[in-house]
Amino acid sequence: MVSQFHGMVSVSPQMHTLFDLLPRVARADSTVLVRGETGTGKELVARALHELGPRRGGPFRAVNCATFTAELLASELFGHVRGAFTGAVRDRKGLFELADGGTLFLDEIAEIPVSIQSRLLRVLQERTFVPLGDTVPRSVDVRLVSATHQSLRAAVEAGRFRADLMYRVRVVPLFIPPLRERVGDVGVLVDHFIEAFNTSHGHLRRVTEVHPVARAALMAYAWPGNVRELANVIEYAFVVGQGSTMCLQDLTPELRGEEPPAEPRPAVTEDERERQRLLRVLAEHGGRKGAAAKALGLSRSTLWRRLRELGIHA
Ligand SMILES: Nc1ncnc2c1ncn2[C@@H]1O[C@H](COP(=O)(O)OP(=O)(O)OP(=O)(O)O)[C@@H](O)[C@H]1O
Ligand SMILES: [Mg+2]
Repeated sequence: MVSQFHGMVSVSPQMHTLFDLLPRVARADSTVLVRGETGTGKELVARALHELGPRRGGPFRAVNCATFTAELLASELFGHVRGAFTGAVRDRKGLFELADGGTLFLDEIAEIPVSIQSRLLRVLQERTFVPLGDTVPRSVDVRLVSATHQSLRAAVEAGRFRADLMYRVRVVPLFIPPLRERVGDVGVLVDHFIEAFNTSHGHLRRVTEVHPVARAALMAYAWPGNVRELANVIEYAFVVGQGSTMCLQDLTPELRGEEPPAEPRPAVTEDERERQRLLRVLAEHGGRKGAAAKALGLSRSTLWRRLRELGIHA
């Protein structure tokens, strides 16, 4: 049965388990960390938590932490008073104040600069914040929902994220599976987005079927960009194609197999690969760094430095 839950279309058991859980999580005021690859619907989940909970009548505000410099993000979150920094010509309310009584969604929280993390911790612990350039703390009542596509623990191990803040923001961790692991969802999402374009762009075209070869290509694709990528592919096909059938030629080159196929899993970073290699060699030598350095052909000091840089505290 195709069901739609707060804008999320899905037939997959994994997603339905999540849908079942959301009302319970929404009822509590605990901070939630939504984890999932890009385009999986993290923001939709955050909105659902807001709408399903007691704060639904209050404001919902969202910000992407990766798109600001440290100073601008601090001002965005906590606001500033006139003269707080060059260019601060008037007082400005921050998102915590604007979301008072409601929910604040912090996207890409792993990217939050260290200089802001202690301020954020303070809001979570004491429910107060101080606008830039001010001295008097203001109280605020905000539920925090955050999202990340990378592991916060890895960010903690790399020294980029405070461990105490990690525990505060992920009291309830929720995981959204990638599209390629959701059984049956590609098919229903293709139909869902075609229907949406038939409605919004019906004056251009009405698609009533997807050619079997095109459907097979859509099914076989790995969707590294998840639901957002699928929506974009369908929009592209809708716009470039003609007539009532969506054909293989209408799909983007990646889907037609004209470019190297996308990686079935998210690419592992160089650092992560090296980290795993060092951990493995260390384990093979019973954790003895001297022996591991010798096996790796590195000087002891080089190995120690790399271990520190990669956040391995062996
Ligand atoms: N299950 C779904 N059904 C229908 N539309 C969906 C579904 N999941 C996501 N979308 C749509 O896909 C797009 C991406 O969703 P969203 O912005 O919530 O993802 P995200 O995980 O926050 O992405 P990013 O990591 O890039 O911030 C949005 O347009 C959203 O409406
Ligand atoms: Mg998002």
